[in-house]
Amino acid sequence: MIEWTVLDDETELAEAAAGLMLDAIRRRPDIVLGLPTGRTPLGMYAAVVRHCGVEQHCFRDVVTFNLDEYVGIDPEHPASYHTYMQRVLFDSVDLQPENTHIPDGSGRRVLSRNPELPMSEALLRECEDYERAIARHGSLDLTFLGLGTNGHIGFNEPGTPFDSRTHIVTLAVSTREANAPHFPPGSTPPEQAITVGIGTILESSEIILLASGEGKRPAIERLRTGEQDPSFPASALHAHGRVRCLVDRAAAGR
Ligand code: GLP
Repeated sequence: MIEWTVLDDETELAEAAAGLMLDAIRRRPDIVLGLPTGRTPLGMYAAVVRHCGVEQHCFRDVVTFNLDEYVGIDPEHPASYHTYMQRVLFDSVDLQPENTHIPDGSGRRVLSRNPELPMSEALLRECEDYERAIARHGSLDLTFLGLGTNGHIGFNEPGTPFDSRTHIVTLAVSTREANAPHFPPGSTPPEQAITVGIGTILESSEIILLASGEGKRPAIERLRTGEQDPSFPASALHAHGRVRCLVDRAAAGR
C-alpha cells in the first residue's frame, strides 16, 4: 500500500519532505539515507540546509548513498551528481565526507587500485563495491526517490528487473533529453549511468517518493492506478510496505 500526500505546491512539498528527513534523523542520528538527484528534490535540500545549518550538527553521524551517477564523466564535471550533491547539500551541512557515497561513473576509484583493468570491468567492480558498501550498513533505512516521466526510479529504466542490484544502465532517450538542460552548452548527457538497483531500493526500510509539476501527472496517475509492471519501474513500490508519495497538486491533477 502506497500512502499518498498531496501538497499545495512545490514549496510545501519541499518543506514536507525536508521535515520527514530531519524527523527521521532526529529519531535515528546514524540513519542510512538513500538520496535522489534531479530538479524535484532541490527544494527539499534547500529546506534541509535552511533548517539545519552546519552549526546544528544534524548530519554528524548520518550516512548517505546516492542512487545514481552518469558513466564516463569525472566527479568534478559540472553536471555530475557528485557536483550536484556538493552544491545542494554536502557543502552546507556537517556530513562527514567518508559517510557520503556516490557511484563513481568515471571508474577512477577502481582503476586507482587496478590500473590494468579495462574500463568496462572497472565499472562492473564499482557496482559490486557500491552494493557491498550498502550491505556493510545492513541496508538503506530511508530512501528518497524522484520519478522519471517514464516511471524510472534512480536510473532504473523500463524493463529493469525488480530484483536488480546496483548496475550499469543505458539511459532512455527521454531521460537524456530531460536531463540535457543540466549539461553545459554543446555537451549532452552520457548514454550510460550507474544506478542502485530496484531490489536494493526495495530493501530500504522506508521509501518516500517525490513528484512535482504537471509533467509528472501521467506517471503519477499510472503509479496510483496501475499494477506492478516492469515496463513501469516505479510500480515495483507496490510490493513495499512503507512507501509514501508526496506530490504537489500539479502532479496529482487536483
Ligand atoms: C533523473 C535522476 C533520477 C530522478 C529523475 C527525475 O534522471 N537520475 O534519480 O529521480 O530523473 O528527475 P527530475 O526531478 O529532474 O524530474
